[in-house]
Amino acid sequence: MPKINKYVDIDQVTREAKKDYIDRHSPFVHVSGDAKKGEKLAVTVKVGNEYSHPDDFDHYIANVSLYNGETLLARADFVPGTLGNEKSQVEVTFNIIPTTSKLELVAQSYCTKHGVWESDPVSCEVAE
Ligand SMILES: [Fe+2]
Repeated sequence: MPKINKYVDIDQVTREAKKDYIDRHSPFVHVSGDAKKGEKLAVTVKVGNEYSHPDDFDHYIANVSLYNGETLLARADFVPGTLGNEKSQVEVTFNIIPTTSKLELVAQSYCTKHGVWESDPVSCEVAE
């Protein structure tokens, strides 16, 4: 079972190499527009905010998962070379349909060398 690394605000980290290490592995959740019950909502997960992760055959971001609380909503798998074997940021948009009055969105990304990384939760009110 891999260790789950939780996001740490990199403004609180002094070492540049550590900022890079944390940021490039961490998923960031972005919700587009207002959530409405029964209607599609675009939730984008981007791995890395300021820094980029390698896309090498032995070291890449293999998947991104999106949860509502403890419930898995969606997962996207990647292969090495998806990003042209260049350093970049994996980015995927999930179109979900909320059925509850509130979402507690959390994403996880999995690096083949550095394990599972978890985003800060993003709360989202869902209108009727
Ligand atoms: Fe990594």
